[in-house]
Amino acid sequence: MRKIVIAIDGYSSCGKSTTAKAVAAELGYAYIDTGAMYRAVTLYLLERDIAFDDLPRIEQALHDIHIAFKRNRKTGRNELCLDGVIREDEIRQMRISNSVSEVSVIPAVRHTLVRQQQRMGRKRGVVMDGRDIGTTVFPDAEVKVFMTADVLTRAQRRQQELALKNEHFELEEIAENLRKRDYIDSTRTESPLRRAPDAVLLDTTHMVIDEQVDFVLERVSASLFSLAALGNDQNGSEAVV
Ligand code: DC
Repeated sequence: MRKIVIAIDGYSSCGKSTTAKAVAAELGYAYIDTGAMYRAVTLYLLERDIAFDDLPRIEQALHDIHIAFKRNRKTGRNELCLDGVIREDEIRQMRISNSVSEVSVIPAVRHTLVRQQQRMGRKRGVVMDGRDIGTTVFPDAEVKVFMTADVLTRAQRRQQELALKNEHFELEEIAENLRKRDYIDSTRTESPLRRAPDAVLLDTTHMVIDEQVDFVLERVSASLFSLAALGNDQNGSEAVV
């Protein structure tokens, strides 16, 4: 069966990655969490005390850094690997969340990561989540979904996720971090967070994960159906007049 690209963009903590992972598992597609890649660059710069305005050192860092995803055989999950070491837990910490938007506005960082993401998805058969997948990375993605949810609902979900990792924060502090990231992500000049004109909107405020996954899978079926119909039409039919 033909393989397509599924782009899932939207605000932070809307359930993008949980939905994208489940859709990828259902279809046997690769899942690429592009936010993890921006987080990895942030961790790399912080660990080396590279200031976010020190362009020469950032460019050198982008040349040296090696970002990949490795499948954890036990959990079956893709984990972010920075210079050969799994750094999945560190990149999710609040100190990274607090700086990642500043790093992701840097054009050199975006160019490097966008190129890498395009290489990762060149054979199609991927579900990619992020902020600019449907607009910049794969503007020709066959399925585009733009996810949103009420900020307090998102903060509650994030608070629960962090609590599971023993990181405890007030709801308002998390909501403030989300608002700040939403603002920076949607106002930056280089590929800002924006709904692609052909992306379908998915508000997850009152939805559970299964409903979100079904919603995307329905879109995928519709897309595969119309691609197949188009293929049949082009290959199998002849003009009669
Ligand atoms: O999805 P996330 O919250 O892990 O993403 C972390 C940050 O990375 C987010 O604040 C914005 C940035 N990002 C981006 O600019 N472009 C992407 N394609 C993915 C994430």
